Amino acid sequence: MALLPLLKMGDPRLFQTAELVREFGTPELDSLVADMFETMAAAGGVGLAAPQVGRGVQVAVFGSEKNPRYPEAPPVPMTVLVNPVITPLGDEEEEDWEGCLSVPGLRGVVPRWKRIRYQGFDLHGEAIDRTVEGFHARVVQHECDHLAGKLYPMRVRDFTRFGFTEVLFPDRDG
Ligand code: NI
Repeated sequence: MALLPLLKMGDPRLFQTAELVREFGTPELDSLVADMFETMAAAGGVGLAAPQVGRGVQVAVFGSEKNPRYPEAPPVPMTVLVNPVITPLGDEEEEDWEGCLSVPGLRGVVPRWKRIRYQGFDLHGEAIDRTVEGFHARVVQHECDHLAGKLYPMRVRDFTRFGFTEVLFPDRDG
């Protein structure tokens, strides 16, 4: 396993649409996912998408137990999500703070669908089909945005609620 370098906002690779994964069970996919989990854990993130490590494929990892970057967040199961599709359930939105390992040191309030169904595949090509809400739904929407070449600041509507973590949340890690 290896820690992968994280791309930061401004890198054009973060704004590209990721390619579908066509083949499961390959050593390349297995090692990419292992390295992504290790990189996410080392950075203290709750999610990481392949484009953030310079790989333009539709792979995201996410999950958390207790996370000092998001102390109030409920746990989300550790998940590998490949070729995801999101369906909003209802039209209710929810606003909450987000950060991103590709946008270090900043936080912003982002509107997201409150409830979603998401479908895709795990590392072995087994189907994933979940209906979730709240923080879990937010994490999935954030990671799927990465696969579509979008970063959360592109969804911020109120720029009075976008700023530096050390100013907004002085007790919190980056
Ligand atoms: Ni992110």
